[in-house]
Amino acid sequence: MSSWTVLEGDAIELLGSMPESSVDAIVTDPPYNIDIDDQAWDGPDIQEAVAATGHERLSPGEAHRIWCRPWGAECLRVLKPGAFMLAFGSPRTSHRMICGLEDAGLEVRDTLCWLFADRPSKSRKLPGGQATTLKPGHEPIALLRRPLEAPTIDTIAVHGTGALEVDACRVNDRHPANVAVTHDPKCSPAGCGESCPVGLLDSQPRPGRTPASRFFFCGRVTRRERDAGCEQLPVKGPESVRNPHPTIKPLELMRWLVRLICPPDGLVLDPFCGSGTTGAAAVLEDREFVGIEQDPGYVEIAKARVSYWAGQLGEGAGRVPLEMGR
Ligand SMILES: C[S@@+](CC[C@H](N)C(=O)[O-])C[C@H]1O[C@@H](n2cnc3c(N)ncnc32)[C@H](O)[C@@H]1O
Ligand SMILES: [Zn+2]
Repeated sequence: MSSWTVLEGDAIELLGSMPESSVDAIVTDPPYNIDIDDQAWDGPDIQEAVAATGHERLSPGEAHRIWCRPWGAECLRVLKPGAFMLAFGSPRTSHRMICGLEDAGLEVRDTLCWLFADRPSKSRKLPGGQATTLKPGHEPIALLRRPLEAPTIDTIAVHGTGALEVDACRVNDRHPANVAVTHDPKCSPAGCGESCPVGLLDSQPRPGRTPASRFFFCGRVTRRERDAGCEQLPVKGPESVRNPHPTIKPLELMRWLVRLICPPDGLVLDPFCGSGTTGAAAVLEDREFVGIEQDPGYVEIAKARVSYWAGQLGEGAGRVPLEMGR
């Protein structure tokens, strides 16, 4: 069983205590700076942290870019040469995150598109059939890399990093695309709900081969997946769940991402690990894991979840079948 740990504290501080060139991959879902659920970490904390370093009167976008630079620099330092990082973002703010990480010295290699259908529109309804926003249907995931210091083949030979594990992530036996798709809540084993992006893509005309056949598909986060391992923790929030993290990601998606960028037996780092989905994915994919999270409540949940999934693997379950949304 691979080893794992979840550290409680500030990402920049704790990253600073990690050795240089010690990490094979970073898969992370940092704050988007969009005030999600009025969480301080997703807005005011960013502005405050940047103001404390002497930058004042910045727009939220400028502050976001500046905030990403120091943790990006620490990520660059701890990654091995050629090692990859995947960072989730919001369509509204990811450009600032990507610029900050690029300013820190990381090389932008691609932007993956993750499609989903289970989020409601939060738009204000205006008279006259108008609205202020579209329904959210995708999130970008930036793919970055610590620049190579030698040709790819030599980097693989020396560090085991520098290339994507496409064979482990093939879809219908084909080279994976930079698109991932999640089913919607109305999908069942009998078929997809009418607005499910998987169903919509699959129903497109397909002369010869299905156009969706290179896309990775996965289920949405079910209540069972959210709470697995947290049975000893109290029920919280209006949804009465034991893991109420507002931005939890689907485990099967995180497994695919871990498999894609982390060499077998490598170490995955998530400096903003929340309720620990990256850690659960890493142990299920037989990778080592270090997570960092500032909120003690989420640290407790992350430890419970990662430990649960590590235990499932220990029972010889191999690839653990998940109860998917379809
Ligand atoms: C978008 S959430 C990650 C959710 C995660 N992907 C999951 O599935 O549960 C970002 C997390 O970063 C944490 N965070 C924000 N600023 C931080 C900092 N400076 N150091 C450590 N953690 C931080 C927040 O508490 C939050 O839980
Ligand atoms: Zn579906």
